[in-house]
Amino acid sequence: MKELKELLRQTEFSRDDLTRLISLEAQDDREALYRAAYAVKARTVGRVAYFRGLIEFSNICTKDCLYCGIRKSHRGVRRFESTKDEILRLAKWVWENRYGSVVLQSGERTDPKFVGFIEDVLRGMKELSCGELGITLCLGEQTEETYRRWFDAGAHRYLLRIEESNPALYARFHPQDGNHVWEVRDRCLTALKKIGYQAGTGVMIGLPGQTAENLADDILYYRRKGIDMIGMGPYIVASGTPMGDAVEASGGNTAEEKRRRFVLGLNMIAATRLALPTVNIAATTALQGLDPRGRELGLRAGANVLMPIVTEPRHRPDYQLYDDKPCVEDTSEECLACVTGRVRWAGDEPGFGSWGDSRHWYERRGRSPEPGREAGEGIAGTLRKPRRVIEIRCAAAPREELQTVGK
Ligand code: 5AD
Ligand code: FES
Repeated sequence: MKELKELLRQTEFSRDDLTRLISLEAQDDREALYRAAYAVKARTVGRVAYFRGLIEFSNICTKDCLYCGIRKSHRGVRRFESTKDEILRLAKWVWENRYGSVVLQSGERTDPKFVGFIEDVLRGMKELSCGELGITLCLGEQTEETYRRWFDAGAHRYLLRIEESNPALYARFHPQDGNHVWEVRDRCLTALKKIGYQAGTGVMIGLPGQTAENLADDILYYRRKGIDMIGMGPYIVASGTPMGDAVEASGGNTAEEKRRRFVLGLNMIAATRLALPTVNIAATTALQGLDPRGRELGLRAGANVLMPIVTEPRHRPDYQLYDDKPCVEDTSEECLACVTGRVRWAGDEPGFGSWGDSRHWYERRGRSPEPGREAGEGIAGTLRKPRRVIEIRCAAAPREELQTVGK
């Protein structure tokens, strides 16, 4: 077998190589993996963590994924829906506090009222920030027409986790009711790319029955699909869900098992960074659900995006995709101070006031962003060249000018 040192210097990785990296367990080996991935991140996208303020605005969901704490059939969940004004107030906070971008996330709905509501909210967010707020959507499977309407209203990134790139395994974690079809999800990602979004996907890591080979295949799927951004994190038990209860009952939720899923989560980030050097990778909240330093260790392992929660505090307890989700009792101000400290601890610079778009996306398009979509962008690939990021001056909120980071 190849020396690990030699493997970590490669730029092309086979399925076997990735499987080996993902399976590393010994502390020394893992540290070597994370160091190598961090070096690649520093060289390709920079030692900067970009923020996306996460607004979870409704937990009403038409889907019934067997693992998810807000699935339609979960009777114990108190359902909520924020108003447009509430969402815009949170978005304004994100903009004024210079996170640069928001992520709008909710349970999945496709009814015309919802589609129109989102369109309205998007226009409102662009208006209140004079086009400066970058917007990522995370609203599940929609028709191509809906994706296009939302794109035209100002969204430019879309995150749709494939959850599991192997259709047979996907079928095991989702009800077979015609409403959870792997091929539909896969086609949604194709549509998002075609429309012009930066397309993000990801998987859950450490699902029952999932092997290191499956995870290696997930990375190969990201590559094959030409994905620009990755949001993936460890699976965490959600009580009251079919999968969570089964895992618990079979003794699969021990401290040791949680540790295993956490390590797999870090190894996946690092292996993905090595295989896909220019994509954006999020250090997700779920990592911190399993380890208090989870997100900063994610940054050390090659991630470059953080999604601090800015959800209305009174709704946070009702948006629990899994048990013991972090930040539920915190305010957005506390999270702001907290994540900034975490980024610095990891040795990175906070990417305030920047969209932090995916370098992979720029390279895929072979050109710079379209006019009107570039305000606020701090393209990672040009970090060393100071550039003026804000063209539009906005009368709405007098405050210090946004700056490019990492000059
Ligand atoms: N553990 C970890 N992640 C989960 N998600 C849903 N339920 C869980 C869970 N129990 C993730 C899914 C979804 C994202 C919004 O949250 O991957 O795409
Ligand atoms: Fe919310 Fe740390 S990010 S408390």
